[in-house]
Amino acid sequence: MCESPDPQVLLDWYDSHAREMPWRTSPQDRKSGARPDPYQVWMSEIMLQQTTVAAVKDYFIKFTKLWPTVGDLASAEDADVMANWAGLGYYARARNLLKCARVVASEYDGVFPNTVEELQKLPGIGPYTSAAIASIAFDRKATVVDGNVERVMSRLYAVEEPLPTSKRQLTDLAEALTPNERFGDYNQAVMDLGATICSPKNPACGICPWREPCIGRSEGIAAELPKKLPKKVKPTRHGYAYVLRRSDGAWLLETRPEKGLLGGMLGWPGSDWGDAPTPNPPVETTWHETQVEVRHTFTHFHLKLRVLVAASDLMPKTGAFVPHTDFSPASLPTVMRKVYDVACHHVALN
Ligand code: ADE
Repeated sequence: MCESPDPQVLLDWYDSHAREMPWRTSPQDRKSGARPDPYQVWMSEIMLQQTTVAAVKDYFIKFTKLWPTVGDLASAEDADVMANWAGLGYYARARNLLKCARVVASEYDGVFPNTVEELQKLPGIGPYTSAAIASIAFDRKATVVDGNVERVMSRLYAVEEPLPTSKRQLTDLAEALTPNERFGDYNQAVMDLGATICSPKNPACGICPWREPCIGRSEGIAAELPKKLPKKVKPTRHGYAYVLRRSDGAWLLETRPEKGLLGGMLGWPGSDWGDAPTPNPPVETTWHETQVEVRHTFTHFHLKLRVLVAASDLMPKTGAFVPHTDFSPASLPTVMRKVYDVACHHVALN
């Protein structure tokens, strides 16, 4: 007979094995009851949506250095925030980050609300993020359910129903297992377990603090869980990107419209992206096509871009010239950065 999983066992494991992260309090601080800064918890959780801890760390450090408080962020320039988010992806998060900071600064006097319900009224904060902030920053009882938690629950209880059908059941199991103390630590402990020991491939069941009660392990099926319904195949779209340089070295760039993919980000002028895009050069001049096309994968499609480069002082019909000294390739979203890297190798620009 297996005993049921004990949340206290996981909390003990967390006390000695918690991953160190720049936004977390240290184990000593946790013992003395210190709570992390809600602004930092919020920032980290927005960045961690769809993104790994490793990818987030440097961005978190940069953002909290540039804007140490929610008031500082609220008064930042939109373009500055977007440029510093470049490379992290899912750019709607950055637009909502700024919107949310402005609401907290103006309507909440710079103090984050401390309940799940109030937090969910803020831009960019859904069920996952509100539960994370309420429990980690304010020690409210709330259960976080992300991919890690779903994997841990599906194995612990040997749920063979595939995702996403099993979502409700896995959420119910996670909620039922949540203890009545240390809500933030407990949520982070399950996520850490999922990210380290209970990993998608080759879980390290031998050293898992929950190895005894784990039904998936006792049935020998842990590594096969959670089952997933087959993913839709992504279509491939095509497009043109135009890299124009003026004789004084300035680059022709445009800020993409707020709504839509890469909204608010800087990019090269281009065509629509589709099955058979219409070429749409920003000036009528001699364009040179690079030998290499750029490939990039978004959430719902693959993109193949033909890159055209030109040197010209003609007045373009879109975009604005950015002086060479003001231009930083690091402020481009990844797909536009790839275009830049390909274009830079072309003789027409050198
Ligand atoms: N993933 C998202 N938020 C996390 C957190 N606070 N701890 C561990 N993993 C996470």
